[in-house]
Amino acid sequence: MRKPRSVREAAVAGKRILVRADLNVPLENGEVADDTRIRASLPTLELLLERGAAAVVVCSHLGRPKDEDPAFSMKPVEARLRELLPDERIQVLENTRFNPGETKNDEGFARELAEGRDLYVNDAFGSAHRTHASTEAVAHLLPAYAGLLLERELEELGKLLGEVERPFVLIAGGAKVDDKLGVLRNLGGRADEVLIGGKMAEQLRDENPLDFDVELPSDIVAASEFAADAESRIVPYDELPEGWLGLDIGPETREAFATEIAQAKTIFWNGPMGVFEWSRFAEGTKAVAEAVARADAHTVVGGADSIRALTELGLVDEVDWASTGGGAALELLEGKELPGVVAIPED
Ligand code: 3PG
Ligand code: MG
Repeated sequence: MRKPRSVREAAVAGKRILVRADLNVPLENGEVADDTRIRASLPTLELLLERGAAAVVVCSHLGRPKDEDPAFSMKPVEARLRELLPDERIQVLENTRFNPGETKNDEGFARELAEGRDLYVNDAFGSAHRTHASTEAVAHLLPAYAGLLLERELEELGKLLGEVERPFVLIAGGAKVDDKLGVLRNLGGRADEVLIGGKMAEQLRDENPLDFDVELPSDIVAASEFAADAESRIVPYDELPEGWLGLDIGPETREAFATEIAQAKTIFWNGPMGVFEWSRFAEGTKAVAEAVARADAHTVVGGADSIRALTELGLVDEVDWASTGGGAALELLEGKELPGVVAIPED
């Protein structure tokens, strides 16, 4: 796998450095609701400051604003970053997506970002699958290096593409089924067991396009409608009542999945087993999160929902690698090259 050159090798003393981080975090009432990605960006920023950088200019996108919408301002993110890392050499730019050139990978906007800066460090793993001015074009205008988080993500996720200790159990769920089929095709054939729950399992009930064996649920929690307080009952997977929805894996499946997970030596989990935001449909995701956390295996978890489930259960520190990337992690595991990584010269 491609190994971009590391920020560790850059001569940074006295330099003005542009850092692209992925500080696309959830906000609630104008404040940062989950600072995981901000904390994940600190090691690179600290390294640059310790090594005597003259200025560290941090940029990121936040959400998908249509124009300069104050609801997507980086101000709350900047405030949280300053609390965590008070250093006057740090500057935080406004949302890169306030400039229409960002998502067009526009050279003019990239030049604005590069102006007055000596080096570029990309630490935005979560955005590395985007060909945008701040992740791609700018890397051709300044000497470019990979940040510590980007490096670590490539290393941890890359391990799953190489030789792994077996049994290798892949657990897939969640809603973005079409995005995930590619990963399943690439990794699934190499796994010893593929456990499928959530919306993914619902979609595969009628038609399964995968050419290897997967373990689908044996029972599910069926709901009369898509609502937190819907009427619900446990039914066999292939006996979903007409017009009802499968909103979680059932108790027999939870136990079967937990047994497989307990025997694994390598695990990759992406995507919840049901609508875990609603407590009545959260048990399946909870059972998988607990089994993954308990497993005596190398455990890697990707995707914002799975990480959130682990965090809410206080289990996120029990896994070996919790990826800050959702789409980026999936594309990498699908075997795709990430444009933000390709733009950085190799080691
Ligand atoms: C993410 O949260 O998945 C990344 O920050 C990328 O955001 P995007 O999907 O809006 O490009
Ligand atoms: Mg995304």
